[in-house]
Amino acid sequence: MKKILVTGATGQIGSELVPALRSRYGFANVIACGHQRTPPPELEQAGPYLKLDIRDPAALNQIVAEQRIDTIYHLAALLSAVAEQKPQLAWEINMGGLLNVLEAARLHHCAVFHPSSIGAFGPTTPAELTPQVTIQRPNTMYGVTKVAGELLCDYYFSRFQVDARGVRYPGLISYQTPPGGGTTDYAVEIFHAAVQDKPYRCFLKKGTRLDMMYMADAIEAAIAIMEAEPGSLSVRNAFNITAMSVAPEDIYHEIKKHRPGFTMTYEIDPIRQAIAESWPNRLDDSEARRQWGFSPRYDLAAMTKEMIAGLTGQDQEKN
Ligand code: NAD
Ligand code: SER
Repeated sequence: MKKILVTGATGQIGSELVPALRSRYGFANVIACGHQRTPPPELEQAGPYLKLDIRDPAALNQIVAEQRIDTIYHLAALLSAVAEQKPQLAWEINMGGLLNVLEAARLHHCAVFHPSSIGAFGPTTPAELTPQVTIQRPNTMYGVTKVAGELLCDYYFSRFQVDARGVRYPGLISYQTPPGGGTTDYAVEIFHAAVQDKPYRCFLKKGTRLDMMYMADAIEAAIAIMEAEPGSLSVRNAFNITAMSVAPEDIYHEIKKHRPGFTMTYEIDPIRQAIAESWPNRLDDSEARRQWGFSPRYDLAAMTKEMIAGLTGQDQEKN
């Protein structure tokens, strides 16, 4: 049985990955680590939680040794918009944190999952059907840390045989935990506005096409790549994956099918718009499909239905 550590466990991905890992590998076998001293109630009830600042290698090594960890899902990071506001801190957390995780993995013989992003691409990358191996010259601090992170993980694999694997996630859409300050956050905010019968002001321009994915598919992908037979992987860091390529108006029109009175206007945030324009429109994820069977279940219509049902249910629980 695996013994798993999840860093950044209280974030958008971690808050859904931890329960998924616990139901697969056992509650006691998944240690959630967050930056906060006390976990959110849903994690506290469900299994072990420890406070960890990922910039503290001694604390990380102590947890990995004491808990006899063999697999680390490393999610602690700053996202694109926050990283652009605090580039020095983003380097410290995203790169320093990853180095600490890879060192702990080297010393204690752990496998590592580390998500990269569509942010690892830049304005000179081919935007349509972006190949698995292509130009990666991002012009954001987030992107710089993602490309460097992919390379560092590959280095630890080839130099020290650390089994480090990753995917390039697109924008992730979910309702359980708010996103942490990314460029694709509009695709979550829009649903919150719609279910509250409020108009939505979108911070990206009409026509800004980006890859997106519903969280359930993202969680399945994280588990699937870590369970894939090593021999079947010709790439490790990191596989392109996507489920849909959408612009704000596509999501708006899909929501209108459920909420005909919903309205959206545009109020562009130049910083996030520039980041979005530097990213691809649509990734080619054929290598992930071929090498480890990646196959997302949610398209725009299915995801919209789930988001509205999930958020409406949450509203009802609150009242
Ligand atoms: P998030 O911002 O929701 O969560 C990140 C977590 O890291 C937060 O809980 C935060 O408290 C924690 N953290 C920040 N600084 C820390 C520190 N010094 N020590 C310990 N913890 C710290 O992010 P997420 O959306 O869950 O993303 C997780 C990973 O997936 C990141 O590497 C991100 O780049 C990547 N990713 C996310 C998306 C997305 O759309 N959510 C897309 C592509 C890639
Ligand atoms: N959703 C993430 C962001 O916008 C993509 O990595 O930062």
